[in-house]
Amino acid sequence: MTRGQFIALEGGEGVGKSTQTRLLADALRARGIDVVVTREPGGTPGAEVIRGLLLGLDGEGWHPRAEALLFAAARADHVERLIRPALSRGQWVICDRFVDSSRAYQGGGGGLSDADIADLHRIGSEGLLPDLTLLLQVPPAVAEARLSLRDTGGSDRIGGRDAAYHARVAQAFARIAEAEPARFARIDAAGSPEQAHAAVLSALSSLLSSGLSRS
Ligand code: TYD
Repeated sequence: MTRGQFIALEGGEGVGKSTQTRLLADALRARGIDVVVTREPGGTPGAEVIRGLLLGLDGEGWHPRAEALLFAAARADHVERLIRPALSRGQWVICDRFVDSSRAYQGGGGGLSDADIADLHRIGSEGLLPDLTLLLQVPPAVAEARLSLRDTGGSDRIGGRDAAYHARVAQAFARIAEAEPARFARIDAAGSPEQAHAAVLSALSSLLSSGLSRS
């Protein structure tokens, strides 16, 4: 059985990841690919419980190290119970956020080192990385405008952090993608969802031809 492909979508708040995840899953299914769509934090019952601990507004919140450990623990369960088994069955996994979110948020935003996040990921998930990571990007002014339009009262604990935090997250994402061009495709998400979707499909073209020719 050929292993499936693992694709992650990443980016800051309000860049349209969920829409692009859905459009991509539909497009792959239309090509006859067996797709599993999932998200982080969460994706398994245990990881969804941890998601509630991380994003809920109860309690006094987490120190950056505790927060990074909780994300790594949620990811460990998700990788072990859902992602690896699906890939082994030959399914493609599309994940809304993965370890690069920890690098950008807990690292860039929260101040942990990239080496520490990598250690947690090695211990928790044996360092599993996506075959392709799509980084959805909008110019800083667009991100700020979208953030300021948000109802902060309805925002989660991390999404509701200040603009400086989110600017550090965006910078970290850009840095990470630049350092690993083979794994990342940067997607301009400032236009319409259809335009971004076309860019996503074109970023996937070589994966699609190799994946389909093997199946
Ligand atoms: P979610 O509601 O899924 O937000 P979004 O629609 O922006 O993806 O909440 C996920 C939040 O958790 C988001 O603010 C990013 C944050 N996050 C981290 O800080 N580290 C991580 O490793 C992951 C996976 C998410």
